[in-house]
Amino acid sequence: MSLWIKNAIIVNADKISRKPQDIFIEAGFIKKITASSDTPQTLSKGGAVNSIDAQGKLVMPGFIDMHVHLRQPGREDKETIETGSRAAAKGGFTTVMCMPNTNPVIDNGMIVKAILDEAQRVGLVNVIPIGAITRGQKNEELSDMFELKEAGCRALSDDGKSVVNSQLMRLAMEYARMAEVLLIEHCQDPNLSGCGVMNEGRTSTLLGLKGDPGVSETVIVARDIELAHYLNTRIHLAHISLKRSVELIRFAKSQGIRVTAEAAPHHFTLTEEAHESFDTNTKVNPPLRTKEDVEAIKEALKDGTIDCIATDHAPHTEEDKEADFDHAPFGMIGLETAVGLVITELVDPKIISWAQMVERMSAAPARITGLCHKGEISEGKEADITVIDPHREWEVRRQDFVSKSKNSPFIGRTLKGCVEATICQGRVVYQREGVPGL
Ligand code: DOR
Ligand code: ZN
Repeated sequence: MSLWIKNAIIVNADKISRKPQDIFIEAGFIKKITASSDTPQTLSKGGAVNSIDAQGKLVMPGFIDMHVHLRQPGREDKETIETGSRAAAKGGFTTVMCMPNTNPVIDNGMIVKAILDEAQRVGLVNVIPIGAITRGQKNEELSDMFELKEAGCRALSDDGKSVVNSQLMRLAMEYARMAEVLLIEHCQDPNLSGCGVMNEGRTSTLLGLKGDPGVSETVIVARDIELAHYLNTRIHLAHISLKRSVELIRFAKSQGIRVTAEAAPHHFTLTEEAHESFDTNTKVNPPLRTKEDVEAIKEALKDGTIDCIATDHAPHTEEDKEADFDHAPFGMIGLETAVGLVITELVDPKIISWAQMVERMSAAPARITGLCHKGEISEGKEADITVIDPHREWEVRRQDFVSKSKNSPFIGRTLKGCVEATICQGRVVYQREGVPGL
């Protein structure tokens, strides 16, 4: 099947096309890119190929989300591979990497295969399972990294919690290097976090909620940086939320230590004051922090200290979230609001450029996870493409979410910039209602 994207202003991480281009896609790959004015008459007359007119839109390499929770197997009432894939496509993501804190935990090849098979059956976006670092995420013994790699994992994580035992983490790093898989650390020392439900400080005291101190994150950030330095290996730090963590990562990078990091949209958008409403949809791990931290995360996304943006899409049912603040589960959905938040909070205020948006959402995650045929629009690359309307304003409405869960603290917000179409492996997997073409 072939597809033709006409009049595209192509945004790559290192270059934006000055004149409109036509992109010809065949058998899932980008076959040819030509200036729209040079397109042969025979093709521009239409012919047999499907086409999308991208006039006035920005055409970017499909976004890659290194951190989502799809809840299957185990909590299909919150999300499934099918509903999560649909949410990803609507949010402009062509690849999602799903965390292993499912039930059972993704800690063996059979579960990896089952997820890949289901994703294939659904046939919307690329779903790449992340295996657990420790068996059952129990922090006791390492999982079989070679088996997980062989089955299709590119990364391993005990996300939801840290690998607390430093010796176990050291061994994990040594094995991960041999197995050539990326380790992703969730930085939060459970002993320091205790039963904290929000950032520890003045606001938690005022609200009468139990605090989780920032040092719970930074001790793990610092430890993992030290281990990566000592072993001369690499580590990826998930959902960084603090100014102090940014400073540690910046220092580590200046020393040549191979650390990469991600930040979630809610951590550059919301502060701990969001909890004043006691809306449990604002409850998340790591917690929302202060204005100073939000500013530092934005600065780090601008200067590259934080390499990429990942949503930490964490669906929970209304029933579960209806509990009081202390008992509600941590997490919020993020796939369908990410692009709007990135454009509204970072691109529109000129904190980052369009090209940097592509770097943080496509090129960097592709590089970090070794997806070398993705993250760029050029001839020969895989045809994973997202078409963006940079100007369109829209309201986040509960009824518009296609994710099975609706736990978003952004409902009611107006965002600028939206996804017009998502193309995965050369197939249109999402097209906004009312968009002409096809
Ligand atoms: O808020 C969170 N929710 N943070 C995590 O690390 C895990 C996630 C979940 O699985 O719900
Ligand atoms: Zn996490």
